[in-house]
Amino acid sequence: MSESIIIAFESSCDETSVSVVKNGNEILSNVVASQVESHARFGGVVPEVASRHHVDNMLYVIDEAIQQANISIEDIDAVAVTKGPGLIGALLIGIQAAKSFAFVHNIPLIGVHHIAGHIHSVQFDYKVDYPAIALVISGGHTELVRMARQDHYEVIGDTQDDAIGEAFDKVARVLKLPYPGGPHMDRLAKEGRHRYDLPRPLMNDGTLNFSFSGLKSAVINLVHNCEQRGDKVIASDLAYDYHQAVIDILQKKINLAMEHYPETKSLIVAGGVAQNSHIRQALMESSERYDLNILFSRPSLCGDNAAMIGAAAHIKLINNQFESLSLNGQSQLNI
Ligand code: KG4
Ligand code: ZN
Repeated sequence: MSESIIIAFESSCDETSVSVVKNGNEILSNVVASQVESHARFGGVVPEVASRHHVDNMLYVIDEAIQQANISIEDIDAVAVTKGPGLIGALLIGIQAAKSFAFVHNIPLIGVHHIAGHIHSVQFDYKVDYPAIALVISGGHTELVRMARQDHYEVIGDTQDDAIGEAFDKVARVLKLPYPGGPHMDRLAKEGRHRYDLPRPLMNDGTLNFSFSGLKSAVINLVHNCEQRGDKVIASDLAYDYHQAVIDILQKKINLAMEHYPETKSLIVAGGVAQNSHIRQALMESSERYDLNILFSRPSLCGDNAAMIGAAAHIKLINNQFESLSLNGQSQLNI
Protein backbone atom coordinates (compact mmCIF):
# COMPACT_ATOMS: atom_id res chain seq x y z
CA MET A 1 0.00 0.00 0.00
CA SER A 2 1.78 3.19 -1.09
CA GLU A 3 -1.24 5.52 -0.68
CA SER A 4 -2.04 5.92 2.98
CA ILE A 5 -3.46 8.16 5.66
CA ILE A 6 -1.97 7.52 9.10
CA ILE A 7 -2.89 9.16 12.39
CA ALA A 8 0.19 9.13 14.62
CA PHE A 9 0.66 9.63 18.39
CA GLU A 10 3.86 10.65 20.20
CA SER A 11 4.12 11.11 23.97
CA SER A 12 7.50 9.62 24.93
CA CYS A 13 8.79 12.67 26.78
CA ASP A 14 7.39 16.18 27.28
CA GLU A 15 5.52 16.84 24.03
CA THR A 16 1.97 15.59 23.47
CA SER A 17 1.64 15.30 19.71
CA VAL A 18 -0.83 13.90 17.19
CA SER A 19 -0.38 14.17 13.44
CA VAL A 20 -2.09 13.09 10.25
CA VAL A 21 0.38 12.00 7.57
CA LYS A 22 -0.36 11.15 3.94
CA ASN A 23 1.77 8.58 2.08
CA GLY A 24 4.57 8.86 4.65
CA ASN A 25 5.82 12.12 3.18
CA GLU A 26 3.11 14.74 3.46
CA ILE A 27 1.97 16.40 6.67
CA LEU A 28 -1.77 17.10 6.78
CA SER A 29 -1.53 18.22 10.41
CA ASN A 30 1.05 18.05 13.19
CA VAL A 31 -0.21 19.35 16.53
CA VAL A 32 2.41 19.57 19.28
CA ALA A 33 1.49 20.62 22.83
CA SER A 34 4.78 21.47 24.52
CA GLN A 35 5.14 21.25 28.29
CA VAL A 36 8.49 22.99 28.37
CA GLU A 37 7.27 25.83 30.61
CA SER A 38 6.07 23.39 33.29
CA HIS A 39 9.44 21.63 33.42
CA ALA A 40 11.62 24.75 33.12
CA ARG A 41 11.41 25.64 36.81
CA PHE A 42 12.75 22.16 37.67
CA GLY A 43 15.60 22.48 35.15
CA GLY A 44 14.61 19.22 33.44
CA VAL A 45 11.67 16.96 32.60
CA VAL A 46 9.83 15.64 35.66
CA PRO A 47 8.30 12.30 34.59
CA GLU A 48 5.14 12.46 36.67
CA VAL A 49 4.42 16.04 35.63
CA ALA A 50 4.88 14.96 31.99
CA SER A 51 2.39 12.08 32.35
CA ARG A 52 -0.23 14.33 33.92
CA HIS A 53 0.10 16.90 31.15
CA HIS A 54 -0.25 14.17 28.51
CA VAL A 55 -3.55 13.14 30.11
CA ASP A 56 -4.75 16.76 30.17
CA ASN A 57 -3.72 17.52 26.57
CA MET A 58 -4.36 14.30 24.66
CA LEU A 59 -8.03 14.60 23.67
CA TYR A 60 -7.71 18.22 22.62
CA VAL A 61 -4.60 17.42 20.55
CA ILE A 62 -6.38 14.48 18.79
CA ASP A 63 -9.40 16.65 17.91
CA GLU A 64 -7.22 19.48 16.68
CA ALA A 65 -5.08 17.18 14.50
CA ILE A 66 -8.14 15.63 12.81
CA GLN A 67 -9.80 19.01 12.27
CA GLN A 68 -6.68 20.64 10.83
CA ALA A 69 -6.12 17.68 8.48
CA ASN A 70 -9.70 18.02 7.27
CA ILE A 71 -10.22 14.25 7.00
CA SER A 72 -12.93 11.93 8.23
CA ILE A 73 -12.18 8.89 10.37
CA GLU A 74 -13.09 6.54 7.46
CA ASP A 75 -10.10 7.89 5.51
CA ILE A 76 -7.59 6.60 8.10
CA ASP A 77 -5.66 3.42 7.16
CA ALA A 78 -3.62 2.99 10.35
CA VAL A 79 -3.04 4.34 13.86
CA ALA A 80 0.65 4.71 14.73
CA VAL A 81 2.18 5.27 18.14
CA THR A 82 5.62 5.56 19.73
CA LYS A 83 6.08 2.32 21.69
CA GLY A 84 9.48 3.22 23.19
CA PRO A 85 12.02 4.16 24.32
CA GLY A 86 11.02 7.00 26.64
CA LEU A 87 9.47 7.82 30.00
CA ILE A 88 7.22 4.86 30.73
CA GLY A 89 4.34 6.84 32.26
CA ALA A 90 4.42 9.28 29.36
CA LEU A 91 4.60 6.55 26.70
CA LEU A 92 1.64 4.69 28.20
CA ILE A 93 -0.69 7.69 27.83
CA GLY A 94 -0.05 7.89 24.06
CA ILE A 95 -0.22 4.11 23.67
CA GLN A 96 -3.51 3.88 25.54
CA ALA A 97 -4.98 6.73 23.50
CA ALA A 98 -3.81 5.16 20.21
CA LYS A 99 -5.09 1.70 21.15
CA SER A 100 -8.49 3.10 22.15
CA PHE A 101 -8.70 5.02 18.88
CA ALA A 102 -7.74 1.91 16.88
CA PHE A 103 -10.19 -0.30 18.80
CA VAL A 104 -13.18 2.05 18.63
CA HIS A 105 -12.74 2.73 14.90
CA ASN A 106 -11.47 -0.75 13.99
CA ILE A 107 -8.27 0.51 12.40
CA PRO A 108 -4.94 -1.42 12.46
CA LEU A 109 -2.28 -0.37 14.98
CA ILE A 110 1.42 0.22 14.26
CA GLY A 111 4.11 0.60 16.94
CA VAL A 112 7.10 2.83 16.12
CA HIS A 113 10.52 3.13 17.72
CA HIS A 114 11.12 6.76 18.73
CA ILE A 115 14.56 6.91 17.05
CA ALA A 116 13.16 5.50 13.80
CA GLY A 117 10.70 8.39 13.96
CA HIS A 118 13.48 10.98 14.26
CA ILE A 119 15.32 9.34 11.35
CA HIS A 120 12.33 9.17 9.00
CA SER A 121 11.41 12.82 9.68
CA VAL A 122 13.63 13.67 6.68
CA GLN A 123 11.11 11.92 4.36
CA PHE A 124 8.99 15.08 4.35
CA ASP A 125 11.74 16.94 2.50
CA TYR A 126 13.88 14.33 0.73
CA LYS A 127 13.81 11.01 -1.00
CA VAL A 128 16.51 9.11 0.87
CA ASP A 129 19.09 7.07 -1.07
CA TYR A 130 20.25 3.95 0.80
CA PRO A 131 22.56 2.72 2.28
CA ALA A 132 22.36 5.59 4.74
CA ILE A 133 23.82 6.52 8.10
CA ALA A 134 21.74 8.49 10.57
CA LEU A 135 23.17 10.66 13.33
CA VAL A 136 20.43 11.11 15.92
CA ILE A 137 21.31 13.83 18.42
CA SER A 138 18.72 14.79 21.00
CA GLY A 139 18.08 15.35 24.69
CA GLY A 140 17.91 11.61 25.29
CA HIS A 141 20.00 10.08 22.48
CA THR A 142 23.31 10.29 20.66
CA GLU A 143 23.40 7.47 18.14
CA LEU A 144 24.83 6.54 14.79
CA VAL A 145 22.49 4.15 12.99
CA ARG A 146 23.41 2.36 9.78
CA MET A 147 20.57 1.60 7.38
CA ALA A 148 21.14 -0.82 4.51
CA ARG A 149 17.50 -0.23 3.50
CA GLN A 150 14.73 2.01 4.74
CA ASP A 151 13.52 -0.66 7.21
CA HIS A 152 16.88 -1.96 8.46
CA TYR A 153 18.56 -0.35 11.47
CA GLU A 154 21.92 -1.20 13.01
CA VAL A 155 23.27 0.93 15.87
CA ILE A 156 26.98 1.42 15.08
CA GLY A 157 27.70 4.09 17.70
CA ASP A 158 26.10 5.21 20.95
CA THR A 159 26.84 7.40 23.94
CA GLN A 160 28.56 5.76 26.87
CA ASP A 161 27.13 8.29 29.34
CA ASP A 162 25.23 11.57 28.77
CA ALA A 163 23.26 12.32 25.63
CA ILE A 164 24.53 15.33 23.70
CA GLY A 165 21.42 17.47 24.40
CA GLU A 166 21.52 16.58 28.09
CA ALA A 167 25.13 17.86 28.21
CA PHE A 168 24.12 21.05 26.34
CA ASP A 169 21.36 21.65 28.90
CA LYS A 170 23.60 21.03 31.93
CA VAL A 171 26.38 23.29 30.64
CA ALA A 172 23.78 25.97 29.90
CA ARG A 173 22.48 25.65 33.44
CA VAL A 174 25.88 26.35 34.98
CA LEU A 175 26.07 29.42 32.71
CA LYS A 176 22.67 30.44 34.18
CA LEU A 177 20.84 30.18 30.85
CA PRO A 178 17.14 29.24 30.80
CA TYR A 179 15.97 25.62 30.26
CA PRO A 180 16.25 23.99 27.76
CA GLY A 181 19.68 25.52 27.30
CA GLY A 182 20.62 24.15 23.85
CA PRO A 183 19.09 26.98 21.79
CA HIS A 184 20.54 29.61 24.18
CA MET A 185 24.02 28.08 23.87
CA ASP A 186 23.59 28.18 20.09
CA ARG A 187 22.82 31.93 20.16
CA LEU A 188 25.50 32.79 22.72
CA ALA A 189 28.27 31.01 20.80
CA LYS A 190 27.70 33.33 17.82
CA GLU A 191 29.23 36.17 19.88
CA GLY A 192 32.14 34.09 21.18
CA ARG A 193 35.71 33.26 20.18
CA HIS A 194 38.34 30.77 21.29
CA ARG A 195 39.50 31.22 24.89
CA TYR A 196 39.15 27.93 26.80
CA ASP A 197 40.78 24.57 26.05
CA LEU A 198 38.23 21.80 26.53
CA PRO A 199 38.63 18.00 26.27
CA ARG A 200 37.19 15.87 23.48
CA PRO A 201 36.46 12.54 25.25
CA LEU A 202 36.58 9.31 23.19
CA MET A 203 37.31 11.34 20.05
CA ASN A 204 40.35 9.30 19.11
CA ASP A 205 39.44 5.92 20.61
CA GLY A 206 38.86 4.37 17.17
CA THR A 207 35.21 3.47 17.90
CA LEU A 208 32.00 5.15 16.78
CA ASN A 209 30.91 5.68 20.38
CA PHE A 210 30.48 9.01 22.13
CA SER A 211 31.03 10.39 25.61
CA PHE A 212 29.83 13.82 26.70
CA SER A 213 29.94 13.57 30.47
CA GLY A 214 33.67 14.41 30.72
CA LEU A 215 33.24 17.45 28.49
CA LYS A 216 30.24 18.59 30.52
CA SER A 217 32.15 18.12 33.81
CA ALA A 218 35.18 20.00 32.43
CA VAL A 219 32.96 23.02 31.72
CA ILE A 220 31.21 22.84 35.10
CA ASN A 221 34.57 22.57 36.93
CA LEU A 222 36.01 25.45 34.91
CA VAL A 223 33.06 27.68 35.87
CA HIS A 224 33.26 26.70 39.56
CA ASN A 225 37.03 27.26 39.67
CA CYS A 226 36.64 30.69 38.07
CA GLU A 227 33.92 31.58 40.60
CA GLN A 228 36.11 30.49 43.52
CA ARG A 229 39.01 32.61 42.26
CA GLY A 230 36.68 35.54 41.67
CA ASP A 231 37.43 35.43 37.91
CA LYS A 232 34.69 36.29 35.45
CA VAL A 233 33.68 33.54 33.03
CA ILE A 234 33.20 34.83 29.49
CA ALA A 235 30.03 32.84 28.79
CA SER A 236 29.97 33.50 25.04
CA ASP A 237 33.56 32.26 24.67
CA LEU A 238 32.84 29.19 26.75
CA ALA A 239 29.76 28.47 24.62
CA TYR A 240 31.91 28.93 21.51
CA ASP A 241 34.59 26.51 22.74
CA TYR A 242 31.98 24.02 23.89
CA HIS A 243 30.54 23.99 20.36
CA GLN A 244 34.02 23.53 18.87
CA ALA A 245 34.59 20.46 21.06
CA VAL A 246 31.20 18.96 20.20
CA ILE A 247 31.65 19.65 16.49
CA ASP A 248 35.16 18.12 16.45
CA ILE A 249 33.80 14.97 18.09
CA LEU A 250 30.82 14.66 15.71
CA GLN A 251 32.97 15.29 12.63
CA LYS A 252 35.58 12.77 13.72
CA LYS A 253 32.98 10.06 14.29
CA ILE A 254 31.25 10.77 11.00
CA ASN A 255 34.58 10.59 9.17
CA LEU A 256 35.29 7.26 10.83
CA ALA A 257 31.82 5.95 9.93
CA MET A 258 32.41 6.92 6.29
CA GLU A 259 35.75 5.10 6.33
CA HIS A 260 34.06 1.97 7.71
CA TYR A 261 31.08 2.20 5.34
CA PRO A 262 32.27 3.93 2.14
CA GLU A 263 29.20 2.69 0.22
CA THR A 264 27.01 5.12 2.23
CA LYS A 265 24.93 7.41 0.00
CA SER A 266 23.10 9.58 2.54
CA LEU A 267 23.87 11.04 5.95
CA ILE A 268 20.70 11.83 7.90
CA VAL A 269 20.98 14.27 10.83
CA ALA A 270 17.96 14.41 13.14
CA GLY A 271 16.84 15.00 16.74
CA GLY A 272 16.43 18.18 18.81
CA VAL A 273 20.14 19.10 18.75
CA ALA A 274 20.12 18.89 14.93
CA GLN A 275 18.54 22.36 15.05
CA ASN A 276 21.90 23.74 16.19
CA SER A 277 23.11 26.23 13.60
CA HIS A 278 26.84 25.67 14.23
CA ILE A 279 26.52 21.88 14.02
CA ARG A 280 24.45 22.13 10.82
CA GLN A 281 26.98 24.39 9.15
CA ALA A 282 30.02 22.36 10.20
CA LEU A 283 28.51 19.01 9.15
CA MET A 284 27.36 20.48 5.86
CA GLU A 285 30.91 21.62 5.12
CA SER A 286 32.54 18.34 6.13
CA SER A 287 30.07 16.26 4.08
CA GLU A 288 31.31 18.01 0.93
CA ARG A 289 34.44 15.89 1.26
CA TYR A 290 32.42 12.76 0.58
CA ASP A 291 30.17 11.77 -2.30
CA LEU A 292 27.29 11.99 0.10
CA ASN A 293 23.91 13.68 0.42
CA ILE A 294 23.53 15.24 3.85
CA LEU A 295 19.88 15.36 4.84
CA PHE A 296 18.99 17.49 7.85
CA SER A 297 15.63 17.13 9.48
CA ARG A 298 13.63 20.32 8.94
CA PRO A 299 14.20 22.51 12.09
CA SER A 300 10.49 22.40 12.98
CA LEU A 301 10.61 18.56 12.85
CA CYS A 302 13.87 18.09 14.81
CA GLY A 303 12.17 18.10 18.21
CA ASP A 304 9.71 15.42 19.24
CA ASN A 305 6.56 15.38 17.11
CA ALA A 306 4.04 12.84 15.83
CA ALA A 307 4.55 13.54 12.11
CA MET A 308 7.89 11.74 12.25
CA ILE A 309 6.14 8.75 13.83
CA GLY A 310 3.67 8.76 10.92
CA ALA A 311 6.55 8.84 8.43
CA ALA A 312 8.21 5.79 10.01
CA ALA A 313 4.85 4.01 10.34
CA HIS A 314 4.19 4.28 6.60
CA ILE A 315 7.10 1.88 5.98
CA LYS A 316 5.64 -0.58 8.48
CA LEU A 317 2.24 -0.28 6.83
CA ILE A 318 3.76 -1.19 3.45
CA ASN A 319 5.42 -4.21 5.13
CA ASN A 320 2.20 -5.22 6.94
CA GLN A 321 3.89 -4.92 10.34
CA PHE A 322 1.05 -4.37 12.78
CA GLU A 323 0.67 -4.65 16.56
CA SER A 324 -2.07 -6.31 18.54
CA LEU A 325 -4.17 -4.27 20.95
CA SER A 326 -2.11 -5.75 23.78
CA LEU A 327 0.78 -3.45 22.80
CA ASN A 328 2.63 -2.17 25.87
CA GLY A 329 5.21 0.59 26.28
CA GLN A 330 8.92 -0.04 26.79
CA SER A 331 11.17 2.54 28.41
CA GLN A 332 14.21 0.76 26.92
CA LEU A 333 13.83 -0.66 23.45
CA ASN A 334 16.27 -1.72 20.75
CA ILE A 335 15.61 -0.19 17.36
O1 KG4 B 1 14.51 15.68 20.26
P1 KG4 B 1 14.20 16.49 21.47
O2 KG4 B 1 13.09 17.51 21.38
O3 KG4 B 1 13.81 15.57 22.66
C1 KG4 B 1 14.38 14.33 22.87
O4 KG4 B 1 13.94 13.33 22.22
O5 KG4 B 1 15.32 14.28 23.70
O6 KG4 B 1 15.55 17.21 21.95
C2 KG4 B 1 15.59 18.15 22.98
C3 KG4 B 1 17.04 18.62 23.13
C4 KG4 B 1 17.27 19.50 24.36
O7 KG4 B 1 18.41 19.01 25.04
C5 KG4 B 1 17.56 20.88 23.76
O8 KG4 B 1 18.40 21.70 24.54
C6 KG4 B 1 18.20 20.50 22.45
O9 KG4 B 1 17.44 19.40 21.99
N1 KG4 B 1 18.21 21.59 21.47
C7 KG4 B 1 19.35 22.18 21.03
C8 KG4 B 1 18.94 23.21 20.15
N2 KG4 B 1 17.57 23.19 20.08
C9 KG4 B 1 17.14 22.19 20.90
N3 KG4 B 1 20.62 21.92 21.31
C10 KG4 B 1 21.56 22.69 20.71
N4 KG4 B 1 21.25 23.69 19.87
C11 KG4 B 1 19.98 23.99 19.55
N5 KG4 B 1 19.69 24.97 18.71
ZN1 ZN C 1 13.20 12.54 20.57
